[in-house]
Amino acid sequence: MIKNIIVTLILAAVSSPAQVAAREVQPIQLKCEHLVNPLGVDAQSPRLTWMLKDDRNGARQSAYQIIVGTDSIQVLNGKGTLWNSGKQGSDEMLVAYNGKSLKPVTRYFWKVTVWDKDGNPSSSKVAAFETGMMGINHWKGTWISDHNNINHKSAPYFRKEFEVKKDVRYARAYIAVAGLYECSINGDRVGDHQLDPMYTRFDRRTLYVTHDVTSQLKKGANAIGMVLGNGWYNHQSLAVWDFHNAPWRARPAFCLDLRIVYKDGTEETIVSERDWKTASGPITFNSIYTGEHYDARLEQPGWDKPGFDDAKWGGVRYRSVPSNQVVAQLMVPIRLVTPYKPKLLKKIDWKTYVFDMGQNMSGVTRISIKGPEGTILKIKHGERIHESGRVDMSNIDVYYRGDKEADPFQTDILILSGKKEDEFMPKFNYKGFRYIEVTSSEPIEMTEANVTAYFTHSDVKPLGEVNTSVPLVNSLWKVTNNAYLSNLMGYPTDCPQREKNGWTGDGHLAIETALYNFDGITVYEKWLADHRDEQQPNGVLPDIIPTGGWGYGTANGLDWTSTIAIIPWQVYMFYGDSRLLENCYENIQRYVDYVDRISPDGLTTFGRGDWVPVKTTSNLELTSSVYFYTDASILAAAAQLFGRVEDHRRYTALSQKIKDAINKKFLNRTTGIYAGGSQTELSVPLYWKVVPENMIQKVAANLNKKVEETNFHLDVGVLGAKALLNALKENGYEQSAYKVAVQDTYPSWGWWVVNGATTLLENWDLKAKRDISDNHMMFGEIGGWFFKSVGGILPDPRQPGFKNILLRPIFPEGMDHAKVTHESPYGTIVSGWTKLNKKVTYEVQIPANASATFYPPANARDKGLVKLPAGKHTLQVTLL
Ligand code: BGC
Repeated sequence: MIKNIIVTLILAAVSSPAQVAAREVQPIQLKCEHLVNPLGVDAQSPRLTWMLKDDRNGARQSAYQIIVGTDSIQVLNGKGTLWNSGKQGSDEMLVAYNGKSLKPVTRYFWKVTVWDKDGNPSSSKVAAFETGMMGINHWKGTWISDHNNINHKSAPYFRKEFEVKKDVRYARAYIAVAGLYECSINGDRVGDHQLDPMYTRFDRRTLYVTHDVTSQLKKGANAIGMVLGNGWYNHQSLAVWDFHNAPWRARPAFCLDLRIVYKDGTEETIVSERDWKTASGPITFNSIYTGEHYDARLEQPGWDKPGFDDAKWGGVRYRSVPSNQVVAQLMVPIRLVTPYKPKLLKKIDWKTYVFDMGQNMSGVTRISIKGPEGTILKIKHGERIHESGRVDMSNIDVYYRGDKEADPFQTDILILSGKKEDEFMPKFNYKGFRYIEVTSSEPIEMTEANVTAYFTHSDVKPLGEVNTSVPLVNSLWKVTNNAYLSNLMGYPTDCPQREKNGWTGDGHLAIETALYNFDGITVYEKWLADHRDEQQPNGVLPDIIPTGGWGYGTANGLDWTSTIAIIPWQVYMFYGDSRLLENCYENIQRYVDYVDRISPDGLTTFGRGDWVPVKTTSNLELTSSVYFYTDASILAAAAQLFGRVEDHRRYTALSQKIKDAINKKFLNRTTGIYAGGSQTELSVPLYWKVVPENMIQKVAANLNKKVEETNFHLDVGVLGAKALLNALKENGYEQSAYKVAVQDTYPSWGWWVVNGATTLLENWDLKAKRDISDNHMMFGEIGGWFFKSVGGILPDPRQPGFKNILLRPIFPEGMDHAKVTHESPYGTIVSGWTKLNKKVTYEVQIPANASATFYPPANARDKGLVKLPAGKHTLQVTLL
């Protein structure tokens, strides 16, 4: 029975329908493939999405109509030569393009008209998307590089001059690279991306980037320049993961089409060809893993401008295409997102300076400095300092096997020109650090002004906020996000210093935290494409993705590589967009079928286990089998969603079989204990819904007892850290969950913050001897959990993408107020409350075209759930 406990219901001010339609109601935030006006779309049926701006209570969309054409004025006037969807009586706000076939390198305009709850129409502004190459055969350029081999250290520079004879309407540069690049036209950088293109399995998929370069061209003589970096394509630094032996490894190469469309309607394409010239320049060494070496004496001013004398430059050579799939990099780019100036400068002596940037981060340092010609500066980056005040890298350089003299770890080397103030920032490397130590071969004067650090990462838009009366909660949320962003470089990494590896487990353990906080769908769609590229024919996945071949064995099992199922599923939950799940369906199936083949009785030890536990280890077969169950269940649900009746039946039966096998072997039905009864062994089956209905209470009570025994401290590794708080909160032990979450003595998340952590760590024990990076995301559930607990904002699996929002907040002791927001596909959800004695005033905001269901917490006097339409609502809740 639905019982209404609303005391006050504040309705948004209502004006007359006509007024509203004109002023306040409009489709906004039009996106194509989840990006605003993207360039270089390769998809034949790109996804179009929008939101409805309509603050009225009960606001919803009753119908929509999409118009697509190549003429923006016509589209504005409602004429679409490519597609007119007609008026669709639907509340969908994510629609795949379904018009005439799209052509390559063409600009399309679109708009949407929506009809509101009262049947009044309103139209969006006109948005655009532009198609890209749409296949390897549309390129006019050819793949070129210089004549050097993989061992050559200097980065190759390339240049070409060309004439622009007529007025330019628009121009686009399509740049495909094996390796990394920076492009410039007439001396100015093209775009503001860093580390393009993103890392892929280069021999299976190569990305190209599209830039609008219209404003950079001028009539008359022009010059285009390219510098190539090694990135992960030509890994020259030795480390344990064998990237120097990657099957794709070669000297970096590129292919470029600069397409110019003139005002008179004619067009011309400047292409990479044999007429380009190449030389080396000031970048004498570059490694994504260790650093960049730059000799300012070797700069060639004007090399990328017209009129430069390139008589000493050599010719290029043709190269074969690195893979058969040269596809658009259609995703949020990496940028120099946040600059940091030093918080503290310690001068050790005239040749040694240490800068504390006050924040651990992934990124690069820019140095501007003048000094005697030939002075060598070593710019070393680390997360810790010795008592002496010098940088200590002992926690992060442990897997490096290279030459520490010639290629020092996390260190750039700059040689000064002596002629001017030299400016240096690496183009083809990033590091994980808080401290920067500069040592100079000659005495030199340095101040804070010489150094700027840039927190650099995939520039995903923030979507969430947690703000409460408890400072530790606010800090944990922030610290988690800093760790997350430090580990997002076009793919999620484990850490930005020691490894930079796409560890699968770390990726899925963090997925909910990721999606509550940032608009990361484009990054995950790309990373799951990497998964598909990497999957073995038998279904197996390596535990780091991409990989040069490392990462197979037994540990690459379910608790790590279930990324293939868990990430598409969560993306579907958070965005209501099933395309990634659909694209991965066959891969999930192959993966599940593989595990099924090796696990005839439904149980498996294929996995790594509860990695980096506080002290108690947990049963590997139990945790791996729970992940097997999870994947089979996701596959069954996906089969149902896509109308695959036979698969649905088959994988529902398989998941039931796994569940029964787990409970038969590990659950003691008398005591309600799984395996040895550790925090992980009890919380993992609860969280992943393996526990039989009639045993849930008993198992949850045992889990609660277990955390009481440790006085609300953690005794888990990564798998338990993901499950524990949720397992307690979802099963009636909200206050215990909260106590564990805000614990601030060892072992706890809070203990890290109390000890000055600005990012999440890899180890609970601050004195541990291994696995001690200071910037890891694998324990990152904490930051996302506040959305699920004090905010209580959850997607409804039956209406995903927050079409219906499940509101299950808790109002814990020790917290007086909280405000949690999440920008969902429908708009901003607000869940906020203040508490005075036993009275809670709960204020929520539900975006237009969405609804919510409020579930009072266990300690509320009134237990009835409340259905809420779009709009703002205030509810009064009395606690017991
Ligand atoms: C990484 C982890 C990863 C683990 C798996 C470590 O070296 O940093 O985050 O998941 O290995 O064993």
